[in-house]
Amino acid sequence: MTPIDLHTFLRTRRSIRRFKADLIPDSVIERILTTATYAPSAHHRQPWRFAVITDLSVKEKLADAMGIEFQRDLEADAISSDAVEKKVTRSRDRIINAPVVIIISIDMSDMDSYPDKRRKKAEYIMAAQSAANAGMQLLLAAHAEGLGSVWVCSPLFAQETVQATLGLPKSWEPQAMYLLGYPDEIPKIKEMKDMQNLVKIF
Ligand SMILES: Cc1cc2nc3c(=O)[nH]c(=O)nc-3n(C[C@H](O)[C@H](O)[C@H](O)COP(=O)(O)O)c2cc1C
Repeated sequence: MTPIDLHTFLRTRRSIRRFKADLIPDSVIERILTTATYAPSAHHRQPWRFAVITDLSVKEKLADAMGIEFQRDLEADAISSDAVEKKVTRSRDRIINAPVVIIISIDMSDMDSYPDKRRKKAEYIMAAQSAANAGMQLLLAAHAEGLGSVWVCSPLFAQETVQATLGLPKSWEPQAMYLLGYPDEIPKIKEMKDMQNLVKIF
């Protein structure tokens, strides 16, 4: 693979939200997760944890529990009940229709602990940044396997619900969810911000 091939590979990863029903072999999932864990992490503490869900009844249980919380949040936003129902249904269907759902959590147990708020917060952010690296690597590994995937933020808004529904260890703090499957859509070309407005060279 040339550098240009690699750049092309990185630039062609896209979020995919519609999947074929085809199952993903366990060996592929294992490979993707292992590659995810090769991401850089603060102090190399590898604070990421993964919950992999393929069982329909578990996906339904999770989608229902998260849906209740999502609905409550949306109702507080004073949007129409039709719009609330649409959003909640779409979110539920996405989880149920994804062949594989992976919840990434962070576990602060192995991170440094500090007596003061400022450093505690920085350490927490470092764990979250580390998990984001693993998440990005997971998406790219899925792309390498010809899979589609999307990062979904909803577990961050329903941390306790996700933890309780899946019976995750108390130290696992859900951060995000990745939906994976063989793609059943071609995403629209995405507009990119002008690099000149994003970079300052000194
Ligand atoms: C932190 C983060 C949270 C995201 N949350 C969601 C989400 O909840 N639902 C969703 O459909 N996409 C979500 N996305 C995907 C973005 O919408 C997507 O990456 C962006 O539109 C750019 O498109 P691309 O991934 O195809 O390049 C999220 C992405 C990131 C990095």
